[in-house]
Amino acid sequence: MAKPLSREELKKKRDQYMVPGLKHLYAEPPNFVRGKGQFLYDEKGEEYLDMFAGIVTVSVGHCNDKVLKATIEQLQTLQHTSTVFMTQPMVDLAEQLAKITPGNLSKSYITNSGTEANEAAISMARVATGRHEVIVLRHSYHGQSHLATSLTANHNYRQPTMPASGIAFAENAYCYRCPFKKTPDNCSLECAKDVERVIQTQTSGQPAVMIAEPIQGVGGAITPPDEYFQAVKKILEKYGVLFIADEVQTGFGRTGKHMFGISNWGVQPDMMTMAKGLGNGLPIGACIVTPEIADKAQKAVINTFGGNPVSSATAIAVIETILEEKLMDNAKVVGDHLIEGLKDLQKSFSIIGDVRGKGLMLGIELADPKTKEPLTQECAKVVELCKEQKVVIGKGGLWGNTIRIKPPLNITKQDADRCLKTMQKALESVSAVTAKA
Ligand SMILES: Cc1ncc(COP(=O)(O)O)c(C=O)c1O
Repeated sequence: MAKPLSREELKKKRDQYMVPGLKHLYAEPPNFVRGKGQFLYDEKGEEYLDMFAGIVTVSVGHCNDKVLKATIEQLQTLQHTSTVFMTQPMVDLAEQLAKITPGNLSKSYITNSGTEANEAAISMARVATGRHEVIVLRHSYHGQSHLATSLTANHNYRQPTMPASGIAFAENAYCYRCPFKKTPDNCSLECAKDVERVIQTQTSGQPAVMIAEPIQGVGGAITPPDEYFQAVKKILEKYGVLFIADEVQTGFGRTGKHMFGISNWGVQPDMMTMAKGLGNGLPIGACIVTPEIADKAQKAVINTFGGNPVSSATAIAVIETILEEKLMDNAKVVGDHLIEGLKDLQKSFSIIGDVRGKGLMLGIELADPKTKEPLTQECAKVVELCKEQKVVIGKGGLWGNTIRIKPPLNITKQDADRCLKTMQKALESVSAVTAKA
């Protein structure tokens, strides 16, 4: 292999040849050239603990041996036919998805990405119901196509162009900043009730579908109360509205214990979309629906790369690995350990306003202790300081003030402890500056 460019050389070349909108997490990004398990390596061979997994995508570890074997075997056997030809890996994957998804979800359409899965799901919901309007939650992120950005209630990811029509926004279940000024002690699930108000006041009263992330990912690990999705589903059923769980981030064991995030709320969605962790880094997405919905969508669909043999064979190996290595359980155990450590950090650092999430999908929101003003710069600084100590963490939230911890599902408690220690040092340094200012 050719010698990689230095970080500085690569940055210069990037600026010359890539569109400026393509932003990286870091102001000074490393040049990652290799990955193994929960570790990344730069061009100088320096090792980094990866606590963000790409963007929440490397589910079973970088270059996982079992998954790699399946990918390479398939690459050497049959790489491509497109969906106009019948191939077994795609159908085997659909069978696997039917087995691991809850309830009656059993008919899949396999795509290249989460964006495309959401596009397909909304289209199918509209065809199946004969209705048009869609309900989404504020602070959501559903992808980058025209429709998916229109479903995304976060200005950072929407271009100033005409959005798609018929989309109404309900308040999200953001307990730390409750839009209804409630606290957990006097919560009356106003956020769930808002879905009905939105149906009555922002739609024809007959929307086709609601799409929601069980835990909002890009939104900053915003985690609804235990009763939230059951209450929402009841309202949707009253108005004949379908429900899509966008499991692009929460799927495949990430939230611990369950294969899919929505199962934490004991709710049965009518449709589910997924991507990211399914391919462990290879491009793939999927939309799975009930037979009743699928039967109403008979018009031909075609996809050049969707369900391609290489991504499909890889995804099957990913699912098998998650099940065989009990990674859902590991996500719960190590996730709980991390939450405990983060709550301890919260006692020492007043700028940690909130610690939230489930399993290995965690958010730490930094805010002014008195005013709750989002601490955006401080969050960016913590992320950069951790990188200097060779620990990769993410950030997000509407104001970019939430640290996101979403590592590969195979990390250990020792990895978690290293992350906590590194964050502690970074927070000490940031808090010292904040205290002086
Ligand atoms: C919840 C959610 N839905 C959809 C998407 C879009 O997926 P993709 O980037 O694969 O198009 C993302 C990506 O971050 C996501 O987090």
